[in-house]
Amino acid sequence: MADNPSIQTMISLIKSKPVPQHIAIIMDGNGRWAKMHGFVRTVGHRYGVEKLKELLVTCKAIGIKYVTVYAFSTENWSRPKDEVDTLMRLIVEFINREIDNIKKEGARIRVLGDYSVLPEESRNAVEYAIAHTAENTDLHLNVALNYGGRAEIVKAVKEIAQKISSGELSLDDVGEKTVSDHLYTAGMPDPDLVIRTAGEMRLSNFLPYQSAYSEIWVSPPDVFWPDFGKEVFLRAIMDYQKRDRRFGGLSSK
Ligand code: FPP
Repeated sequence: MADNPSIQTMISLIKSKPVPQHIAIIMDGNGRWAKMHGFVRTVGHRYGVEKLKELLVTCKAIGIKYVTVYAFSTENWSRPKDEVDTLMRLIVEFINREIDNIKKEGARIRVLGDYSVLPEESRNAVEYAIAHTAENTDLHLNVALNYGGRAEIVKAVKEIAQKISSGELSLDDVGEKTVSDHLYTAGMPDPDLVIRTAGEMRLSNFLPYQSAYSEIWVSPPDVFWPDFGKEVFLRAIMDYQKRDRRFGGLSSK
């Protein structure tokens, strides 16, 4: 469906200013959305996947290069089995249904997190998606799956320690870049903007190292992820473009 004129105007305005290179999104509120509409929680996740597809199209339209979404945290295993199974199934369905489109759009899929422990069907789908989009460079979609930020830092520390003990690295060479290079996001820019839907003001173990200087944008509490349409997303980007990013220095404005 063609965008209405106000969406087109917003897109043009956004493109006339520096656009964030990397946005990271905590897609929160699927359960609350489902409850509000009289559905079981898993229906909220299904609607959530549709919003993700819509969001990727908008990101490409405005020139955002990296999109990282929090799909499943290391803590989410403690949810009811039925909900975990649905989330694992949605990953397979999303990849099966969208992989041709994703390839056509030049998007590269990567996973942040240890996906080796996912159910076999989900793991196979993820491996397929990673392998079949590896050459793409137009849009990078990172899906955080079985992801926890502290666990990611522990993994990096262990890998670095291993390299020091084998002599591959010397202690004096270890700096911030060494740590970045051992995170799942190695080689990617840090997120410029972290968006969280549904009002909660926390990062929930999402990209703690990478988001040290990210701007944070939280939607009003009644905007759940399945409600996160183009207009509110573009509004978030416009708000970001008004921010004065100082990185600990002084204002350049
Ligand atoms: C948070 O809402 C959402 C999640 C834990 C899962 C998000 C996952 C998807 C949208 C599907 C991802 C699929 C692909 C293919 C990447 P919540 O359940 O915590 O909501 P609540 O806070 O209202 O309970």
